[in-house]
Amino acid sequence: MTKKFYIKTFGCQMNKNDSLIMSKILKDHGFEPVANEESADIFIVNTCTVRAHAENRALAYISGLRNWRQAGKRVLAVVGCLAVDKADTITKHLHAVDLILGPDSYRKIADYVSEIMEADTRIIDTKLGDETYYGVYPSAPQISSYVSIMRGCDNYCSYCIVPYVRGRARSRNPTDIFKEVAHLIKSGVKDVTLLGQNVNEYHYERYDFAELLARTSEVHELFRLRFLTSHPKDFSKNTVQVIKTHDKICEWFHLPLQSGNNRILQLMNRKYSKEEYRHLIAFIRQEIPHATITTDVIVGFPTETEEEFQDTISLLEEIRFDDTYMYRYSVRSGTKASKLKSLSEDITKNRLTKLITAQHKIVRERTADMIGKTYEVLFESEAKNNASRGKTRGNKDVVVDTQIAPGEVRRVKITCVKGHTPIGTVVH
Ligand code: SAM
Ligand code: SF4
Ligand code: F3S
Repeated sequence: MTKKFYIKTFGCQMNKNDSLIMSKILKDHGFEPVANEESADIFIVNTCTVRAHAENRALAYISGLRNWRQAGKRVLAVVGCLAVDKADTITKHLHAVDLILGPDSYRKIADYVSEIMEADTRIIDTKLGDETYYGVYPSAPQISSYVSIMRGCDNYCSYCIVPYVRGRARSRNPTDIFKEVAHLIKSGVKDVTLLGQNVNEYHYERYDFAELLARTSEVHELFRLRFLTSHPKDFSKNTVQVIKTHDKICEWFHLPLQSGNNRILQLMNRKYSKEEYRHLIAFIRQEIPHATITTDVIVGFPTETEEEFQDTISLLEEIRFDDTYMYRYSVRSGTKASKLKSLSEDITKNRLTKLITAQHKIVRERTADMIGKTYEVLFESEAKNNASRGKTRGNKDVVVDTQIAPGEVRRVKITCVKGHTPIGTVVH
């Protein structure tokens, strides 16, 4: 009988993409995906450990699967970033877990599952290496999809656990990337996001990131191309020019700032100053005035003073990002920053609240600025009450009160804002 699997994914787009890779590998080996765990023989939990909260959430979720595991001859797999970091803890304390895999071991997932089913054994493989999943082209049932162009990270920002759990940075063969993009387009995808922890470091033979971006945008019938995430220290002016001159590449820049204070940036090992960051933003806005710029910020990094935190607020108010992902610093053991004395929870909570208040005001104002303007919207899904939801080139969600099939493109004039969502009417 065909064995069925269910995957629960925590974490970032990388992990979501990895779940599609595992799904493709399992399907190629005759396993069948199911929509929930009840009928599954194999339960895969793809985990994140970027902050303590993500770790605790994943561990609590896995603990809660003991009954599921005991209800039959089943396999429980814990994979992904937390699996690498906490393989020992999981082995010792979570006895229901049969399989522990790191992000570079998914090629063997089907074989490992079969081995466990036959021999009732436990397998742990968290080795990290140079895997790029060459030749594995996952299917995506949506209008927009991700394609990973790099894996791992060598930047070692002092707060970050990612380099330890995802291994060395490596770039994927460009031919393989073009093939995957073409494969996705054939299955109905129109909007592709190239993924990496720092896509600006992409480098494969004669290809750098600017060249890869330009060539990928030429893949037949691709409608929109995006990329995530950019590191400010490596963003080249040439890449900005490529974005400016290639229509299909969307003018959306996600450029994590992390802090607006130079001493903290240096302690974070970010390798740019606030002045360099400001300069990059000015250059982007000079070349592409309607660019959407979003960012990530961490508050309460060890030793951050109130004035240094104010520098971050001031820079946010000066740059006026379209959106900001805001986090409280979370200590990750093994990282360089973990050796520094953390600030109290009260201080970091208080700073996060202040930052959220300041940024929400900016987002409200920027979204209100959209009213009266017309945008190209690629529709992706239905919304409540016969409405439809789509995305602008700047990655803003827009809702219109008419039914428009996913994959269709319309010009939409924004008429009002509900919550944070711009609402519009179709112009043509
Ligand atoms: N490589 C990307 C980059 O450089 O921005 C993304 C890395 S991480 C998956 C996404 C965001 O999580 C980071 O930009 C950072 O703001 C945040 N982050 C990473 N480690 C953190 C930590 N220890 N505490 C709080 N936030 C953290
Ligand atoms: Fe983490 Fe820095 Fe690498 Fe991003 S660039 S994954 S923040 S170490
Ligand atoms: Fe992503 Fe979390 Fe791993 S943010 S890279 S899934 S630690």
